[in-house]
Formats: sequence, C-alpha cells, structure tokens
Amino acid sequence: MYILRVIVRPAPSRRRLTTFRILVRVFIGICTFVGALSLLIWLIYRPRTILIAVDSATLWRFNVNSTTSPPVLTFNLTAGVSVSNPNKRVSIYYDRLQVEGFYQEELFGRAALPLSFQGVRRTDAVRAMLQGSSAGYFDNATGSGTGVFPVDLWVVGTVRYKFGDLMTTSASSLSVKCPLVLQLMEASSRVECIVISF
Ligand SMILES: *[C@@H]1O[C@H](CO)[C@@H](O)[C@H](O)[C@H]1NC(C)=O
Ligand SMILES: *[C@@H]1O[C@H](CO)[C@@H](O)[C@H](O)[C@H]1NC(C)=O
Ligand SMILES: *[C@@H]1O[C@H](CO)[C@@H](O)[C@H](O)[C@H]1NC(C)=O
Repeated sequence: MYILRVIVRPAPSRRRLTTFRILVRVFIGICTFVGALSLLIWLIYRPRTILIAVDSATLWRFNVNSTTSPPVLTFNLTAGVSVSNPNKRVSIYYDRLQVEGFYQEELFGRAALPLSFQGVRRTDAVRAMLQGSSAGYFDNATGSGTGVFPVDLWVVGTVRYKFGDLMTTSASSLSVKCPLVLQLMEASSRVECIVISF
C-alpha cells in the first residue's frame, strides 16, 4: 500500500528523483520484510540453552611443589561430562569445545571435548582428561591438610545453531561453569553446571 501510493503520485518534473525514491522505498520494504521474517523464524525456533553437567570427576593427582618460584601444580583429573541439546527444532554445531581447569582462580590445564555436532533432543556423554603440570601462583595445595580441592571446570566453545534445514546462525561463544569440590582418588557426584553465556 505504501509503495503503491508513491507509484501513483504524478511527478513528471521530478521523474528521476521519484524513481530513486521508489527504489529506496522498495529497498526499505524488502529489508523490513526480511527483518520481520527473520524475527518470526527466530521466535519460532529460538534455541534453548545447552545443558551441561559433570557426571563424575576424579582427581588422581594434585600437588603443588612450592620449592620453585612460581610454584608448580602437577595434576591428573578425569571427568565425565554430559552435554544435552534440549531443543526440538534446533541442532548444534560445536566448532570448538573444550574443558578448562581452574584452581585458585588460575588456569592449570585444558583438554578438547570430542563433540562436533548434536542433533535435536540429544545427550552425549564425553570424557576429558586434564593432566600435566602448570606453573602458577598456587598455594601449597597439600598444605591445607584437608585434602579437599575446590576446582572449577569451565566448558567453553564456539557454537552455531542450525534451524531445521533453513539456516545456521553465525558463531557464538558458549561459556559454562562447573564448580566442583574434589578429593584425591574419590569420584565426585553429579554437578549441574551454570551457563554463563551461550
Ligand atoms: C619440587 O621441585 C624441585 C625443583 O624442580 C625438585 O627438586 C623437587 O624434588 C620437587 N619436589 C617434589 C616433592 O616433587
Ligand atoms: C592419570 O590418571 C589416569 C587414571 O588413573 C591414568 O590412566 C593416567 O595414566 C594418568 N596419567 C598420568 C600422566 O599419570
Ligand atoms: C607443602 O605441603 C607439604 C605437605 O604438607 C609440606 O611438607 C611442605 O613443607 C609445604 N611447603 C610449603 C612451601 O609450605
């Protein structure tokens, strides 16, 4: 209707300007239409957040050698992580997915999680092993005497959402925090992780 009104208005003396205006309005109209359609599709297919839990984690080794400066943390941690896509219509590409271990706010190790695509309503169990040694300003871990180690596992990645066969969004970053309290040689119980961004 809007465009039609422009077309029927006679303005012979300003023909070129009018043609230009029509083109601009048609362009704006198309943009508005595409925008509204995208919004509608987004509202219908809007992805629900990925759910992540640490089913169980075990510290096989965790000690700080403070004779060096900075101290060195030697660690061996295994974790079973379950990743769920709760969406009915949206599947997920994990372009990058890894787990990062933090102790006393310092990153000590990371490992890739073997998951690259997840169809609708799927849960995958993946395993990660963090092992090695890392220099950082750690307190003497065994010095506390309790043998209880608060370790944060972060699951971070780059994901794309696929809406049916229609389209795939551009990459967005996933960041999930799993606060664990671990004891040596003892499997932890299940912990639901907190989604920080997706
Ligand atoms: C700590 O590191 C020093 C220097 O690398 C080494 O000589 C020492 O044996 C280490 N101590 C332990 C308990 O591993
Ligand atoms: C870490 O612990 C696991 C499980 O006990 C073991 O299989 C693996 O060899 C250990 N890795 C290192 C470097 O000690
Ligand atoms: C670290 O802890 C161990 C075991 O409790 C202890 O023998 C060592 O002296 C501590 N080192 C430092 C620098 O506190």
